[in-house]
Amino acid sequence: MSSTHGAEVLVASNRGPVSYETGEDGSLRAKRGGGGLVSGLSAIGPETNAVWVCAALGDGDRAAVRRAEGGLLPEADTGGQRVRMLDIDPEVFAAAYNGIANSVLWFVHHMLYQTPLEPVFDAEFRRQWAAYEAYNRAFAKALAEEAGEGAAVLIQDYHLALAPRMLRRLRPDLRIGHFSHTPWAPAEYFRLLPDDIAAELLTGILGADRAAFLTRRWADAFTECCHAVLGPGIPAGTRIGVHGLGADADFLRERSHRPDVAERMAALRAEIGEGRRTIVRVDRTELSKNIVRGLLAYRQLLDEHPEWREKVVHVAFAYPSRQDLAVYREYTAEVQRVAEEINSAYGTPGWIPVVLHVKDDFARSLAAYRLADVALVNPIRDGMNLVAKEVPVVSDEGCALVLSREAGAHEEMGEDALTVNPYDITGTAETLHTALTMPAEERAERSKRLAAAGTALPPARWFLDQLHALDDQSS
Ligand code: G6P
Repeated sequence: MSSTHGAEVLVASNRGPVSYETGEDGSLRAKRGGGGLVSGLSAIGPETNAVWVCAALGDGDRAAVRRAEGGLLPEADTGGQRVRMLDIDPEVFAAAYNGIANSVLWFVHHMLYQTPLEPVFDAEFRRQWAAYEAYNRAFAKALAEEAGEGAAVLIQDYHLALAPRMLRRLRPDLRIGHFSHTPWAPAEYFRLLPDDIAAELLTGILGADRAAFLTRRWADAFTECCHAVLGPGIPAGTRIGVHGLGADADFLRERSHRPDVAERMAALRAEIGEGRRTIVRVDRTELSKNIVRGLLAYRQLLDEHPEWREKVVHVAFAYPSRQDLAVYREYTAEVQRVAEEINSAYGTPGWIPVVLHVKDDFARSLAAYRLADVALVNPIRDGMNLVAKEVPVVSDEGCALVLSREAGAHEEMGEDALTVNPYDITGTAETLHTALTMPAEERAERSKRLAAAGTALPPARWFLDQLHALDDQSS
């Protein structure tokens, strides 16, 4: 259904700022999400006509779209934002989202394949690819309908790599930006993809006036892929930009001092026990987050530095993510298994070595941040990693940050963090020991500098910078 709202600024992303759950009585309950895009978009103010185009992810969302009759969702549900949600055929959506975006593109950019047996690019893959094209086409069409003359369109992430070019064809007048929130694969790895698919992905993004990334490293990798797959001299007409995304200091400081956080701190303190040090990690349970190796490093710390037994607790929150995929469910189970193994091997009557929680609770995450002596952020590869930036802002006493050199955040925080190779368990165990023994004064000083670096580019600035850069031919 077409609806023209003549928007001046448009955002497109797979996951929108709101989702719906259906109650037992059939009523719909709207749940608003957070994140950089939500606070970024609110920075442009209500006087700018902005529309956010996203996909319906589940049955509740689809029911809400039907109720909105293909138009915008009720503003009461979206916190005033104008949101158009696309009811893409569930099978097409599943093949595009789970099949291509999560099982191929995410794996390529995070280098997650176990290459002796995967990937397998067969007829089934081609079927899913056709769905990915259809999904991108649905976004391009909706954006073309919603955009006013010369509007700015900011298209997000690997789900929508083809949409910039498709939209350019429909509406040559628009100013189009594409932003990648993930790492970008090195050229040799990217070329695991069939040649025609690799080329389609790159030329899809090159349909934008500007393609932007979270760090220089990912931007350079994209350019190298263009050279390797499309030939030297490409990208020609597309500008390449870098916009690091930082934590929102004001929001975090205020939110982490509300009563619900204090309540959870008390509960966590009881689980941890009096006077013990904490090594805190909070992640969505992504294969790229390296939670299992983090646990193995902690176990090695307890082996090699038995003086830490009963004196430290590893607080690990591993929240559910993409549970439609078996490999994610298996990974969550492995995290639980290794944590239990450590607890039964080392635990004593008054001491649980690993406090693991797998149910999402934002207030409890903030409580853990406040209690953190050490933050462990050791992803295999990560576009940025906001946890690395948030914990130093929120921790009450200042924390030592153990940070993977493969996280985008390392570009901005490397100087005051303790750097680890995410595959090196022995090295990570030693670095945890160094972090735990860091003198309080040094830890507080470093944490202050980490907090400053991590909040230098808050979401509002990240968003506005991209918008301005679309107009500025030199950036
Ligand atoms: C992470 C990535 C984003 C991505 C998101 C999708 O947060 O950093 O690049 O868009 O995952 O997650 P989802 O739960 O929607 O699959």
